[in-house]
Amino acid sequence: MFDPAEDARQIEAAVAAVRAHTDLQPSLALVLGSGLGALADEVEGATVIPTAEVPHYPRSTVEGHAGRLVLGMLAGRPVLVIQGRVHLYEGHSPRAVTFPVRLAHALGAEGLLLTNAAGGINRGFEAGTLMLITDHLNLAFASPLSGKLPEGEVRFPDLSNPYDEQWRTEAGNIALTRGIPYREGVYVWTAGPSYETPAEIRFFERAGADAVGMSTVPEALQAAALGMPTLGISTITNLAAGLQGRPLDHSEVMEVGRMVRDRLATWVRAIVAETGPGR
Ligand code: HPA
Repeated sequence: MFDPAEDARQIEAAVAAVRAHTDLQPSLALVLGSGLGALADEVEGATVIPTAEVPHYPRSTVEGHAGRLVLGMLAGRPVLVIQGRVHLYEGHSPRAVTFPVRLAHALGAEGLLLTNAAGGINRGFEAGTLMLITDHLNLAFASPLSGKLPEGEVRFPDLSNPYDEQWRTEAGNIALTRGIPYREGVYVWTAGPSYETPAEIRFFERAGADAVGMSTVPEALQAAALGMPTLGISTITNLAAGLQGRPLDHSEVMEVGRMVRDRLATWVRAIVAETGPGR
């Protein structure tokens, strides 16, 4: 449980720390998942702030998740790239996990683009498939919105359109125009850090999930409470447990993420240039 006044003070202090480096107003915030951080290097006129220097920013401890905030121009738009996602399994509370989203909102971001690495459940997916997230299942049964909320966050946010339909349609059209193959699907959030069991994957499959991962959903919930439209893209880095006939390995997740990141980067750059809120 957290104190809403303290919560607001923490964000204020973090905003002040960022503002000591740059007054750039990001119109979009991008959260980059495992192995997908390279896009941050393309930001022009970048101000790079280690998250360790941002007061109250939770510590990121996972390989592939450098703790940096990058503010600058990407594809002609002012952006905040969050390279330093934090996860529930690192020992953070759900509220702490979404600190970066609240910070992005307080810095002016009007839309949130989330990327992640995920295990493929849909039998038509293979390692390297890009999946536009249409909806999610919250099977971590956690929420960053439990407890008293600061002013400006909706108590009971509507989730009938958690990944903005219009933005999704535009993103899909861009992929079609540029010949970037993609699929659509439902993402299921699990707390991790262990990968799932084959029985869990069969259960998720029957429940309607297409991909599984350990992030994204808390951030989408936080964005919904703040009224920020969200877009989510999963890179399917492996087939989920029991579907690929060999054990899952984090290094494989990172490797496949690296292999498809150029395709993903091309798509994300075009999405940033041509679509989304705040344009
Ligand atoms: N399960 C959960 N999270 C993941 C996976 C997976 O198979 N692959 C990448 N992130």
